[in-house]
Amino acid sequence: MPLTGRDLISLDTWSLEEITLVLDLAEEMARSLDTGASERPPFSPLDRILATCFFEPSTRTRLSFAAAMHRLGGSVICLQDVRMSSVAKGESLADTMRMMSAYSDLIVIRHSQEGAAQEAADAASVPVINAGDGTRNHPTQTLTDLFTLRRRKDTLSGLRVGLCGDLKYGRTVHSLAPVLARLGNEIVCIAPPALTMPAEYLDEVERLSGKRPTETGDLAGALADLDVLYMTRIQQERFPSPEEYEKYKGVYVLDSALMRRAPEDMIVMHPLPRVDEITEEVDHDPRAAYFEQAAGGVPVRMALIALILGLVEAPEGSRRWGFG
Ligand code: NCD
Repeated sequence: MPLTGRDLISLDTWSLEEITLVLDLAEEMARSLDTGASERPPFSPLDRILATCFFEPSTRTRLSFAAAMHRLGGSVICLQDVRMSSVAKGESLADTMRMMSAYSDLIVIRHSQEGAAQEAADAASVPVINAGDGTRNHPTQTLTDLFTLRRRKDTLSGLRVGLCGDLKYGRTVHSLAPVLARLGNEIVCIAPPALTMPAEYLDEVERLSGKRPTETGDLAGALADLDVLYMTRIQQERFPSPEEYEKYKGVYVLDSALMRRAPEDMIVMHPLPRVDEITEEVDHDPRAAYFEQAAGGVPVRMALIALILGLVEAPEGSRRWGFG
């Protein structure tokens, strides 16, 4: 299989065919999960170990990777609280990765520094998946975003997608925007002047799609023309000071009043966690897709793990695990 043994550091080096392969297999995985535990034949144990190494907080990404590996029948080890590991004694990332390679078949890493996932992949002898490196990349979130987007809109191209919130520090939008551009979508960037999308990503989107994103600070004004609104959290931990963060806290709040100005068929996405940028009343709006998006993390990561570990023989073909 084309993805067997591959690292996933950034989707920039993955073709659209490879991305589609993951999404298609994720659909199959989702179907097998939807069957329900009582009707599903018991899965056979899989003699593979996934190592999760998180040097930054995570709920969804770490747990959906773990759930995905368990669903495939494999095992998970985790380096979670780095204060309790040798990292606290000053061990280098490269040495930690060499050791984790001896203990596992696949490493998932999240780190606060841009480039850390590549550094980990260079040192590891097993494939490495980037689960977020600083403000730079979050490719598995992008795959999860595309999965929900395709399910809800029946297409992955020709859409007008508004990215809203902290576009300066948010890695989910930095990962997503170039892939949306490659797929032929139009991007509208909605952010306060100090948190706009860095020029390198705007340039990249323009290079890939021939169209530079429109930039605005006005969410209410932009809403009426969107097919998708992708909200993000103001990235508190990346601000130089708490005072600086306080200035932008609550800068955009999507509520029912704003939703009344949005098209009937616009969907609302958010990588989560949300802080205050979407009110809970919006959760009941049929256009809210963010919890579904989080749930999609499991089948998408099952597909990704299965492809990288070479557990599937063909996209539609037989699988080595026992269910489905
Ligand atoms: C995101 C992240 O870690 O970048 N969370 C996630 O993985 N779903 C988004 C965020 O923290 O704002």
